[in-house]
Amino acid sequence: MAEDFLKTPFMENLIEDSLDNHIAIIQEDSARYLRNLIQQKQTQTLLEIGTGFGYSTFCWAQAMMPWQGKVVTMERLIKRVNKAKEYSFYGNFRNIDFVCGMVPFDLYLFARVCDGIFVDAAIGQYLEIWHYLTPYVKPGGFFAFDNMNVKGLLSKSWAEIPRRHRTIYKRLYEFMSAVEAEPGWQVKKLHLGDGLLIAEKLGG
Ligand SMILES: C[S@@+](CC[C@H](N)C(=O)[O-])C[C@H]1O[C@@H](n2cnc3c(N)ncnc32)[C@H](O)[C@@H]1O
Repeated sequence: MAEDFLKTPFMENLIEDSLDNHIAIIQEDSARYLRNLIQQKQTQTLLEIGTGFGYSTFCWAQAMMPWQGKVVTMERLIKRVNKAKEYSFYGNFRNIDFVCGMVPFDLYLFARVCDGIFVDAAIGQYLEIWHYLTPYVKPGGFFAFDNMNVKGLLSKSWAEIPRRHRTIYKRLYEFMSAVEAEPGWQVKKLHLGDGLLIAEKLGG
């Protein structure tokens, strides 16, 4: 039977190291869903925003190895980029480009056509990332945004939302409305992990 990559000591160790360093990682059900999507679409180039120590990056890069697909991942903290590079070396990954940069200022580094984009960074910036990067996704490609239901916010009514979370709730709502209103995209909200929003560009 084929080895389950997510259950390898390499990935288990990375989960422990990320959590010990207070880095929230993508949840297993969301990771498995996206790995399937990548496999179905045979994604050639995937851009990731928010590397952390690279747990999610390796989820995609390992899935894309059979057809030499490539991941480009951006992280604002150099220490995290360096740690992710170390892991990449130990894991013998050759299909990842690590970029140290801050979204939105350094998004120009991502300004190239790609087949998929995974976003796991600051929610307040999702709308800007969406507006900036939608033209760079090929027809048939996708956008995936993690943390769409962080703290269960979207399952609550306005009255139930603590005052301190109202700004983030408004931003999430504004972002989702903008994505849903965009013509030419098919949008799905999935109750997986911390909430996943998938937008597929029609055509291709
Ligand atoms: C939740 S962690 C990413 C975890 C990773 N995707 C995983 O599942 O293993 C979010 C990361 O995004 C980075 N980040 C937050 N805002 C950012 C920004 N504006 N530009 C680049 N990276 C950012 C943080 O430093 C943090 O390491």
